[in-house]
Amino acid sequence: MKDQVDRLLEEINSFTAETTEQVESFRLKFLSKKGLVPAMFAEMRNVPVNEKKEAGQLLNNLKNRANERFEELKTLAETKLAGPGKKEDLTRPVGFSDAGTRHPISIVRNEIVDIFQRIGYTVSEGPEIEDDWHNFTALNFPIEHPARDMQDTFFIETSPDIALRTHTSSVQIREMEKSKPPIRKIFPGRVFRNEAISARAHCIFHQVEGLYIDEGVSFADLKQSLYYFATELFGENTKLRFRPSYFPFTEPSAEMDISCFICGGKGCKICKNSGWVEILGCGMVDPNVLENCNIDSEKYTGFAFGMGIERITMLKYQIDDIRLFFENDIRFIRQFTGAV
Ligand code: DAH
Repeated sequence: MKDQVDRLLEEINSFTAETTEQVESFRLKFLSKKGLVPAMFAEMRNVPVNEKKEAGQLLNNLKNRANERFEELKTLAETKLAGPGKKEDLTRPVGFSDAGTRHPISIVRNEIVDIFQRIGYTVSEGPEIEDDWHNFTALNFPIEHPARDMQDTFFIETSPDIALRTHTSSVQIREMEKSKPPIRKIFPGRVFRNEAISARAHCIFHQVEGLYIDEGVSFADLKQSLYYFATELFGENTKLRFRPSYFPFTEPSAEMDISCFICGGKGCKICKNSGWVEILGCGMVDPNVLENCNIDSEKYTGFAFGMGIERITMLKYQIDDIRLFFENDIRFIRQFTGAV
């Protein structure tokens, strides 16, 4: 047995490998289940009892050496592969890394902005961290309104209250405070709500707010402007439906539905068989809000509206999980390239 082990050791020590295939053939020859080393262990059966101890030691040495040599050969082959002959040309120009694409939320936001710009709206933005006045009080929210609650709003500081804005309506106030009518503006931006994250809701999302203030602006103007918007975004056969609603900052207030652009109003999964999908809130700016911003509510009237960009994007592209927008998986985002 000793002779056999010695011969094997010699073979193991003189084995060389320059490629990973040769390393693998070493493993197969000596170490694999059917290899020569395990075969030697099988021989133990035939060794007389009084020699077993010595033979065991020999075999363990053999096994250890074979494993050691295997590791040596691996390193050897790796350095050979990266060796002088195969060195990278360091002067070669680098390949371009994959360029990203526009995010679907940006695509739809740009589309909405574009539609309103065509009828004379300009764009402004406001801060994401807001005080109580701009987010709630100036917008006519009663002190005890539930939206002010910790459960809905992320407060950063209390007394005085500073919070992450819960809607882009706050930018209306900033705009009316600093400019005189006529005002015709849209305010896209990110908003925050203290919501449990699910397929339908997220604590971060995006809105576009609209505001039009001038002399003699009526609910008919609101309907016509939003009709124009909806047909531009969803197609010329889109029908509108206004449902009475309540927002503290508008009176009267409404929610606007569009006829389902998937089934054309017949009823499907997207519109939950109703034929209609809700896309925005709107109304005539409450005189209290105008007065809060030092705009004469006897002279001026106006309308406002606000919509969620995620919601519109989900409807438009039939996306059923809002969380996809925030994961930034390039395979998801790529699908919308050039979708405008
Ligand atoms: N701020 C409202 C929201 O976040 C949306 C909204 C509704 C905005 C009616 C408006 C409006 O300007 O008139 O749910």
